[in-house]
Amino acid sequence: MSLYSPAEVAAQYATDRHLRTRMETHRRYGVGPDIEPMVDERLALRGDEALLDVGTGPGDFPGRLRAEGHQGRLVGADLSAGMVERARGVHPGVEFGQASADALPFPDGAFEVVTARHMLYHVPDVPAALAEFVRVLRPDGRFLAVTNASGYMGELWEIVAEVVPAEPALASLLESRAGSAVFSERNGERLVRDTFGNARVDFLDSALVFPEPGPVLAYLESMTALQRLTEDDRRRVRAALRHALAPRFHAGEWRVSKRVAFISAVREERQPDTPSAPRTLPEPGTFYPGE
Ligand SMILES: C[S@@+](CC[C@H](N)C(=O)[O-])C[C@H]1O[C@@H](n2cnc3c(N)ncnc32)[C@H](O)[C@@H]1O
Repeated sequence: MSLYSPAEVAAQYATDRHLRTRMETHRRYGVGPDIEPMVDERLALRGDEALLDVGTGPGDFPGRLRAEGHQGRLVGADLSAGMVERARGVHPGVEFGQASADALPFPDGAFEVVTARHMLYHVPDVPAALAEFVRVLRPDGRFLAVTNASGYMGELWEIVAEVVPAEPALASLLESRAGSAVFSERNGERLVRDTFGNARVDFLDSALVFPEPGPVLAYLESMTALQRLTEDDRRRVRAALRHALAPRFHAGEWRVSKRVAFISAVREERQPDTPSAPRTLPEPGTFYPGE
């Protein structure tokens, strides 16, 4: 189960504001290999495949593929209407629509590739979502999940754990970390293997190097658990975190390690137990902007 209710996930991603804060943090302070070359290596796209990116957020991944010359159909689906609207504005060459991972509005075998990047830990019923991914894939179609591996940004969570006894309001932030373990490499490989009959896991190690505490605090404050707090609580928590962070910066920069897991699978020719029809089909005009 995802730690947050569907309403809280919806509120977090109503717009791309909080997600952009975190993406910008990774862009500005990230060191080491980027995930995109690894995604490209794992997918080994020819360039003409029909690809569905589930939980696409602002659609940057299919948008990048189109900008790089991908000729096949590119579709981005997301639960959040705000994300879909945003993605459509930024990446006109991609089809975007609102859909839930566990009830995809596509016929069987519509895609050769399905990707789910940093989203399965938000899905309440992961096996139901994986079954949908298998269903909409053609035989031999490929699936790739990108997710945080266990221990991801461990140094940051140590700080939060240090502050919790004085600021119990922060406990929910720690719980959110435990919640994100609902789809890490540990259980993710098994879940994918159970559904697809095969799975492969690869890792990529990198880090964030922060020059000062400000961006660390902004990153934490973008998360649902801190968004839930009253302004007073947030101010107090911010001060406590700043205090706990200060010693980490005595040597100048502070390094936080990142390990990302890539879980890939192939849809086998005979896939047992997959539903034969989509649960819902799009009403004309609801998914495809041009219809
Ligand atoms: C952390 S963001 C990742 C966005 C993008 N894939 C990326 O890697 O930058 C998670 C996205 O998953 C979406 N999401 C959450 N639950 C979903 C569900 N059940 N079905 C489809 N999308 C979902 C959210 O609205 C959000 O846009």
